Amino acid sequence: MNQQITADQLNDAGHLMIGGCDSIELAHEYGTPLVVYDVSQIRQQIRSFRRVFDANHVDYAVSYASKAFAAIAMYQVAAAEGAHVDVVSAGELYTAIKADFPIERVSFHGNNKSREELEMAIDHHVGTIMIDNFHEIELLATVLEERNESVDVMLRITPGISAHTNKYIQTGQVDSKFGFDLQSGQADEALQKVLANPRMKMRGLHAHIGSQIFELAGFEGVAKKLVEVAAHWRDEFGYEAQVINVGGGFGIRYVAADHPLKPEEFVDAIIKAIKKETAEKGLSMPAIWIEPGRSIVGPAGYNLYTVGSRKDVPGLKPYVTVDGGMGDNIRPALYQAEYETVLASNPQAPIKEHVRLAGKYCESGDILAQDQGLPETQPGDVLAMLDTGAYGYSMASNYNRNPRPAVVFAEDGKAQLVIERESLADLVHLDRKYQQ
Ligand SMILES: Cc1ncc(COP(=O)(O)O)c(C=O)c1O
Repeated sequence: MNQQITADQLNDAGHLMIGGCDSIELAHEYGTPLVVYDVSQIRQQIRSFRRVFDANHVDYAVSYASKAFAAIAMYQVAAAEGAHVDVVSAGELYTAIKADFPIERVSFHGNNKSREELEMAIDHHVGTIMIDNFHEIELLATVLEERNESVDVMLRITPGISAHTNKYIQTGQVDSKFGFDLQSGQADEALQKVLANPRMKMRGLHAHIGSQIFELAGFEGVAKKLVEVAAHWRDEFGYEAQVINVGGGFGIRYVAADHPLKPEEFVDAIIKAIKKETAEKGLSMPAIWIEPGRSIVGPAGYNLYTVGSRKDVPGLKPYVTVDGGMGDNIRPALYQAEYETVLASNPQAPIKEHVRLAGKYCESGDILAQDQGLPETQPGDVLAMLDTGAYGYSMASNYNRNPRPAVVFAEDGKAQLVIERESLADLVHLDRKYQQ
């Protein structure tokens, strides 16, 4: 029995419902592999974050880290829910612009923004540039000068806090490619450079300590550290930060062994920590920005696959192969991420066997799950992998020249295609014949 699926997610036929739609019907109508989002779950999570801030009477921004899943439809939902968004590339920025996302609520991140990306950001009047390094300060200064423009900026610092999480996705330790180092004085030097440039309107400071974090301590630590830096900047340089941005990273439940707090509990603790620290240091309360990605879209996403071949190896776990794999979800192969998968036509069916859920890509490492309990399955059965909404489709590739799946938004019993399935023609549309 899967503990994640509750009775209200099943219809009379016993099928898994997503956003009020029958998952089996979705699979038949749109084909598999298919990514389906329960849109109301996305909305609810953004609203829960916003409620915590409202209840605590602080200025805030919930900035959806759109690298977790970027699509025009997703930027539309984020806009409708009053969220800000983070983008990290011209491509994400372009997608947000195509969605008519309010540009003043866009923050542009990245540790190597190109001149073209900065020009695009300035020409479109992006809300905030999150400056990561000295090269960027110079590049941005040139772009602003050439255009006779100014922009709000924040400085990303490396807080020296290493969150307890998967080592492959940590970004907050001192030895990180992101942000200005504190101990060596880089952050102070960056502040002085920014304050000296009237075209850069310094809003505050930012840090992101990692991803899929389950413990409060890391967030309380980063909140405290950022307030300390803010107090030091006031005392040393007479500059008072208006915004403290603690990044994202709130962990979600993928498998039974995961016991995360509710994302809003993290935020409550962060707010309390910043209130306490600023009061102690005599700073006025800044606005607090958070940048959740995974916690907003992860639990809302489902990958639907159709079962194909099977291989039984005497004495070992069988391989049950589906029609997708590492091309639509690289996370298991990349960093041994785990998920739960159910039979969409009967998610609560008793488990009959433990299998390796294999993908169809030509890599032995293309295993979506190493140990998945399932009822008996037949070719043609639809499987639903749960909590796939973050860093799944957004990291999808065309490896083996497989087309990327379609994406459907389901809400209140209605489904809408929001990203079409790639066609075979799409796969070669950038290819040019070689004249030999
Ligand atoms: C700067 C920054 N903010 C926010 C996020 C979102 O993190 P998560 O999806 O774990 O909430 C990331 C993810 O890597 C990030 O690098």
